[in-house]
Amino acid sequence: MTPAQGEQYDAIGARFEESKSTAAFSAADTYTLRAALGDVSGRSALDLACGYGYNTRLLAERGARPVVGVDVSHEMIRLAEKHPAGSPTGIEYVVADVAELPALGRFDLATAVYLFNYAPSRAVLRAMFGSVRANLSDDGRLLAIVPNPAPFPHGNYEEFGLRLLERVLGPEVPLIRQEFTTDPPTPLEDYEWQLADYERAAVGAGFGAVHWSPIRTPPPDADRDRSFWRRYRRHPVSSLMTCTA
Ligand SMILES: C[S@@+](CC[C@H](N)C(=O)[O-])C[C@H]1O[C@@H](n2cnc3c(N)ncnc32)[C@H](O)[C@@H]1O
Repeated sequence: MTPAQGEQYDAIGARFEESKSTAAFSAADTYTLRAALGDVSGRSALDLACGYGYNTRLLAERGARPVVGVDVSHEMIRLAEKHPAGSPTGIEYVVADVAELPALGRFDLATAVYLFNYAPSRAVLRAMFGSVRANLSDDGRLLAIVPNPAPFPHGNYEEFGLRLLERVLGPEVPLIRQEFTTDPPTPLEDYEWQLADYERAAVGAGFGAVHWSPIRTPPPDADRDRSFWRRYRRHPVSSLMTCTA
C-alpha cells in the first residue's frame, strides 16, 4: 500500500470533482476515452484509480456489466458511492492499491485514467501493470490516460486547468508539484515518467502490444474555440495508451 497516495486524494476529496468538471484537459481526456471505448455493452470492466466514479459510471451507463471501481483513497470511494448522479446497477467499489491488487476477476476491459503517474518507483509501476494484466482476460484490453512529460519550465498548462509549479529530481523519477486551477487552487503531486517507461513496464508485466494515440479534442464551442483546442493539441497534458495481451 502507498499510504501517501491515499492520503493525497483523501485531502483533495470533492475538489477533484470541481477540477474534473471544469478543466479543459479533462474534457479532452473524456472525449478521447469515450471514442476509444467503442461498444462495451455486456463486457466486464475494471476502472482503476476510479476517483469519485466518473468513468466507472460512464462504463456502466454504456452497458458494461459488471463494473468494478478501485481506488486507494477511502474518501474518493466514499464520494463515488454517494455521488448525486447515483450508481447505475452493476457497479461495485473497492478500496485498494492497484500495485497490490488481488485477483478480482478476469475482466474484458480495464480503464486507468491517471493511475500510473502515481507510481513512485519502477518496481511499483511494474507491479501496477502486473495487477492489471492479472485481472484481464486473455483477449482483454487496457485503456490508460497517462500524462506526457511536462513542458515545464518553458511551458505550462494553466489555461487548460493545470498549473505546473516545480520539478523535483528524484533517484528514479522526477516529482512534479502542481495544482488544479480550481478556486482556491488544489495542490497535488505526481511522478514524471516518460512514455517509454510506461511501455516498458507494460511489456515487462506481460502485455503483448502497446499502442499510443494522441489525445482528441471536443468540437469547438463558445467557451473553447478552434484556436483554443489547436493550442491544446500542440502541448496536450496526456496521451492514450492501449495495451492488449
Ligand atoms: C487524478 S485522479 C483520477 C480519478 C479518475 N480516474 C478520473 O479520471 O476521474 C487520480 C486517482 O488515482 C488514485 N490513486 C493514486 N494512486 C493509486 C493506487 N496506487 N491505487 C489505486 N488508486 C490510486 C487517487 O486516489 C485518485 O483518486
